[in-house]
Amino acid sequence: MTENVLLFASSKGGVGKSTVALGLAHALAELGQRVLLADFDFSSPCLDLLCGMEDHVLCTAADLAKGICAPVDALLRPYDALELYLLPASHEDSLSDTDEADQISLLARAVEQAAEQIDAEYVLLDTGAGISKGLRAAAAVAHSAIIVAGHTPASIRAAGMTGQRMLTYGITDTHLVINPFDVKGCAAKKSARHSMLEIIDGAGVPLLGAVPYDYALVLAQEGHGSADLSAAAFRNIAARLRGQAVPLFSGLPKIRKQKRMLFQ
Ligand SMILES: Nc1ncnc2c1ncn2[C@@H]1O[C@H](COP(=O)(O)OP(=O)(O)OP(=O)(O)O)[C@@H](O)[C@H]1O
Ligand SMILES: [Mg+2]
Repeated sequence: MTENVLLFASSKGGVGKSTVALGLAHALAELGQRVLLADFDFSSPCLDLLCGMEDHVLCTAADLAKGICAPVDALLRPYDALELYLLPASHEDSLSDTDEADQISLLARAVEQAAEQIDAEYVLLDTGAGISKGLRAAAAVAHSAIIVAGHTPASIRAAGMTGQRMLTYGITDTHLVINPFDVKGCAAKKSARHSMLEIIDGAGVPLLGAVPYDYALVLAQEGHGSADLSAAAFRNIAARLRGQAVPLFSGLPKIRKQKRMLFQ
């Protein structure tokens, strides 16, 4: 399997893990990469919904892990033009009758099989909030972790704790994505919001990128329109993962103009 296996995590819920995982998967696929996006949030899976594929799920990661279906039956392809494949999850935990170590190795094998099926160049694993079985299973296969935090003290603290937890799993290659980044709130004079530097400092995880708050993204997730602002930010992050040195907020001129204010 490819070395490019990344999990998305934060012990805090609702910080945008799934949004960032899908946004980045889409941007990598736009760069011509074959991407496997696996939903490892077994309590509250949502990637099938975010991709508009909820009526197409026949088999899940757990079914594949149990050998009930083949990878080709479980994988969904939400966008015709892109080599982005989704391995969906079910909140009915059909693996819970075996002990956790077995479940984790079965899930890890399922990801390997799915990745082999599409000859994936990137494997992205979305995990749920807290310290879940999905997180432990993702950590068993991932080489890197993307930790998501916003401006709130709770999400910054959670990012720091999640970074430490990654070390206990042997994952030392950790990256921070700030999401949703509040450009207006940070650029305002005497801003009360945590600045970009304060978020990086508080989390103790090196920055990979920042995704601005994008109302169009909220609507796009509900099936209406497209989200250009956040899409540009995801393209930047994808390019950095591919090894390119892309300036912060490249392609987002209105935000770049304010960049000095964003760090204060
Ligand atoms: N950059 C953004 N701009 C605007 N809204 C966003 C952004 N990122 C995430 N959101 C919104 O925040 C909410 C939570 O996002 P998401 O479901 O991705 O979080 P999560 O961390 O995966 O949650 P959970 O812990 O439940 O898995 C969603 O309604 C999503 O639309
Ligand atoms: Mg999620």
